[in-house]
Amino acid sequence: MQSTLPIHFAPLQGYTEAFYRNAHATYFGGIESYYTPFIRLEKGGFRNKDVREIEPGNNRVPHIIPQLLASSFEKAEAILALFIEKGYQEADINLGCPFPLLAGRHNGSGILPYPEEVESLLSLVKKYPQISFSVKMRLGWENPEECMRLLPILNDLPLRQVTMHPRVGKQQYKGEVNLEAFAAFMEACRHPLIYNGDIRKLEDIHRIQEQFPALAGIMIGRGLLANPALAWEYKEKSQLTPDELRQKVQMLHTSVYEQYTERLQGGDAQLLSKMKPFWEYLLPEADRKLLKAIHKSSNLSKYNQAVLAFFNQR
Ligand SMILES: Cc1cc2nc3c(=O)[nH]c(=O)nc-3n(C[C@H](O)[C@H](O)[C@H](O)COP(=O)(O)O)c2cc1C
Repeated sequence: MQSTLPIHFAPLQGYTEAFYRNAHATYFGGIESYYTPFIRLEKGGFRNKDVREIEPGNNRVPHIIPQLLASSFEKAEAILALFIEKGYQEADINLGCPFPLLAGRHNGSGILPYPEEVESLLSLVKKYPQISFSVKMRLGWENPEECMRLLPILNDLPLRQVTMHPRVGKQQYKGEVNLEAFAAFMEACRHPLIYNGDIRKLEDIHRIQEQFPALAGIMIGRGLLANPALAWEYKEKSQLTPDELRQKVQMLHTSVYEQYTERLQGGDAQLLSKMKPFWEYLLPEADRKLLKAIHKSSNLSKYNQAVLAFFNQR
């Protein structure tokens, strides 16, 4: 009998915003910790939205970990200062982002081929012993050997855990995850290791757990957007019926919708643009026609009608 691993909700910029996380924790749960999408410096300052997103008063999940993305120690320290000001005692460092514009400037997975730069960035961990740091990374930018070369640096730091998404940055989200390279990294990594990547079903969690019994946890992104009950189902060893799932998703939707309605002053178009991503990965096996009507709704009234039709289906 396998033990139950902690499941972490991966950060997904534009999807796992505070309102979504709050509603998810209320109606589904099963999550050990929710990671915020990365916060970065833009022209030397922070976007108002980023600051609002990590404001403790806007977050009601039991355990939230803010994530920073930076190409240098100085930038990372400035972002960490914001986290500390907001009262956080944990921080995740993004060494995985594959977006060429950011990676090209040695952010995220773009820094992985440069061990000296990684070492300098991660010296933050030693300078702030009062903060519990974790790292979320890929195998490399171009080549899985990159992460192996970084292991002495990583192993030497007091990290809480490392999350590995076993693709290289150049792949973006295409192609297969490289489980062989993951195994090699795991073998030599001294920190508790979290697996992340392409977990869609309960069977996927069990398969990865069986293949890597020493894992400290699993992080799931798109699989949880598709089935928000996935972590709960794994933890409770019980599966919702399609009707039960749809009812809970309706509560999730209503909550996210109401929170945005209260916040946004920009009219229907703004609300619509915030709600559309909710459906992008959701319930891929649901009725295509009903989903398509939601995706192509061009105003809020059409959107609401299409959403109602979706939830009222029998
Ligand atoms: C739209 C999108 C936005 C993402 N934003 C972030 C982010 O802000 N920080 C981060 O570390 N990873 C980010 N990721 C990567 C995910 O956290 C995760 O590592 C990746 O999706 C693989 O896991 P999955 O197959 O379970 O989704 C993002 C991925 C996607 C598709």
